[in-house]
Amino acid sequence: MAEELKERFGELLRYAKHVAELTNRTIEEIVKGEPQYLYEAAIHLIRAGGKRLRPLATVLAGRMYGLPEELGVKAGAAVEILHNFTLIHDDIIDRDNLRRGVPTVHVLWGTDVAIIAGDLLFAKAFEALGKLAEHAPPERVVKAFNKLSWASITVAEGQALEFDMVKRDEVTVDEYITMVYKKTGALFEASLLIGAILAGAPQEELEKLSRYARGIGIAFQIQDDILGLTSTEEKLGKPVYNDIREGKKTILVIYALKHLSPEERGKLLSTLGKKDATREELEEAANLIKKTGAVEYAKNEAKKYFEDALSALRDTKPVDEEARKLLEDLGWYVILRGK
Ligand code: IPE
Ligand code: IPE
Ligand code: MG
Ligand code: MG
Repeated sequence: MAEELKERFGELLRYAKHVAELTNRTIEEIVKGEPQYLYEAAIHLIRAGGKRLRPLATVLAGRMYGLPEELGVKAGAAVEILHNFTLIHDDIIDRDNLRRGVPTVHVLWGTDVAIIAGDLLFAKAFEALGKLAEHAPPERVVKAFNKLSWASITVAEGQALEFDMVKRDEVTVDEYITMVYKKTGALFEASLLIGAILAGAPQEELEKLSRYARGIGIAFQIQDDILGLTSTEEKLGKPVYNDIREGKKTILVIYALKHLSPEERGKLLSTLGKKDATREELEEAANLIKKTGAVEYAKNEAKKYFEDALSALRDTKPVDEEARKLLEDLGWYVILRGK
């Protein structure tokens, strides 16, 4: 599969690598200072890797409406910094000890430093975006700023909705979709919109991009939940089965709880959220979920959300058709990716 993906997405992956290199350089210039250990903690995950899909989306959506790549990269760096802030705090919340193949920030520096490193990145993201005022019309920069604030607020709301859902046995797919749109979709939406806003794209174009980004964001999180159940730690660079241990109501869990026999449902519920569950118990729970066909169902839902959104992207009127095509490939990549 990996080879197949490389071939199908060759052009996208080449351009992604180019944008990632430029983004990394920009981030290194912004995230530096003292005390050294704080900045080391803040840059740790960034240096460990990551797909850099959000800055890529910013650059491509910007290019679609004529934004020079170098400005797209500066804005994309801000989005990626914000993303990394959410990851540091998310790993504390989820008690995850591995990300991007390395130990997480709170494991290496302790929770206190990890919280502050996250706060630092949160502020640095806005500092990075503010620097664009030197290169773009101020009213566009303010609009981009507002979009990043909106995304930060919405991610916090999404994470809080997820806590509530952990406590309940009955959760609907609609509730899940609302929650993942907020915790994951909003930042994808902001990634695209910030690029297009800085390019000066008209309102009706922004609305089409929003619709597309929402589809990608939801599909992205569904795929993340699928991989967390079906992949391996080696491939993902982050833990598998931890959603079960933390009692997360992923779309797969919601489906399984509805389709298991009462007895098996009880068994699954007894492991969900069991913080000291053994590897065997987690595997048993994962197998219960899988045997309901939850994985196939979730894959299909991800595809549906993405394909429904695709018509909005195909409706846009870009000045750079190649950028539009790459943004479409990015969406396909999101639902077909293996990590
Ligand atoms: C992880 O995002 C957090 C989610 C929203 C699921 P990514 O899968 O984009 O993480 P990196 O940046 O590539 O590590
Ligand atoms: C993703 O949360 C959303 C944010 C990080 C805000 P998850 O907890 O589902 O993502 P992973 O699987 O840890 O990357
Ligand atoms: Mg997590
Ligand atoms: Mg989480």
